Amino acid sequence: MATQQPATRPANPRFSSGPCAKPPTFDVTKLSNAALGRSHRAAIGKDKLKAAIEGTREVLGIPADYKIGIVPASDTGAVEMALWSLLGERKVEMLAWESFGSGWVTDVVKQLKIDAEVKTADYGQIVDLASVDCNNDVVFTWNGTTAGVRVPNADWIADDREGLTICDATSAAFAMDLPWDKLDVTTFSWQKVLGGEAAHGMLVLSPRAVARLESYTPAWPLPKIFRLTKGGKLIEGIFTGATINTPSMLAVEDYLFALDWARSVGGLKGLIARADANAQAVFDFCDANDWIANLAEDVATRSNTSVCLKFTDDRIQDGAAFAKAVAKRLENENIALDIGAYRDAPAGLRIWCGGTVETSDIETMLPWLAWAFEAEIAAQ
Ligand SMILES: Cc1ncc(COP(=O)(O)O)c(C=O)c1O
Repeated sequence: MATQQPATRPANPRFSSGPCAKPPTFDVTKLSNAALGRSHRAAIGKDKLKAAIEGTREVLGIPADYKIGIVPASDTGAVEMALWSLLGERKVEMLAWESFGSGWVTDVVKQLKIDAEVKTADYGQIVDLASVDCNNDVVFTWNGTTAGVRVPNADWIADDREGLTICDATSAAFAMDLPWDKLDVTTFSWQKVLGGEAAHGMLVLSPRAVARLESYTPAWPLPKIFRLTKGGKLIEGIFTGATINTPSMLAVEDYLFALDWARSVGGLKGLIARADANAQAVFDFCDANDWIANLAEDVATRSNTSVCLKFTDDRIQDGAAFAKAVAKRLENENIALDIGAYRDAPAGLRIWCGGTVETSDIETMLPWLAWAFEAEIAAQ
């Protein structure tokens, strides 16, 4: 029984699922070249915004004919822009298996009042992807951050689809292979896998998504902050660094630093390998301990970023209180911060395993989790 505190502590106790840990080489002096106090429309600002867009393309391997825009309001802003600008032209299928996907369902069904076909699954499971008809517009989350369940692949997305795939990939981009030919709209935020700052989102559009924007006008009004077209034409500036409104040049510098760090660990391949190694350490821990298990039921759907865990010991009297107490104990010891399950998710823990987290920190933290578990069992 691990009642004794382990001898070593993680060098970095930050395992939050967003904002995520900064890259290991980060310190604020790395941002000293930020274009602070300068106009984002001046050459220096525009160049940095363009570098953020083109750096994203390079690291993620986004095709040259896809548009990449920096948009307001983080991933949420990017998803909302897509939903409000593109949907309504044809039938819509909404897929959801956790909190964020469910949020997009609410928006589409209750706010846009679209009579969508809604497919849902409980936490830990995934919807029947084989039943999806990609001649409809399909809205889904690549990695369900609050369930730790991701799509196993994109084989279910037809190459000759007539609908658009709209994919919230915020906890997947920079940690998982995203098949760009299968994704018409992809969104993510800086605060997730690369450990950037919040408030800015990325919107990636395929040529077919652009064609839809230029050929279809929704029936509802669009606020300026959502508008991607003018006079039936794409506003190209948004996709070259002329943002809709003022961005934080400090956050831009931070993102440029994060992209440089990503290149230094081998780009996307290196980032995926780091996330895989982190997640594997947690999976192995679950295999070795019969009191804890992955929330994702099917191994093929297990996230390598937001790994969600549930306690399975019969001795636990109040599951929610127990999980909270374990997380609190680890926080009090400065071993693991922010690892409680998301507020809408089943009781448990969520350990961020994206590439900015060092595997050695995961490996050092896990024996402490065993210690905290035993301590809470004893304290019940
Ligand atoms: C799948 C998913 N979608 C959307 C969001 C919202 O992201 P943001 O707060 O960056 O807008 C999150 C944040 O955790 C998320 O995990």
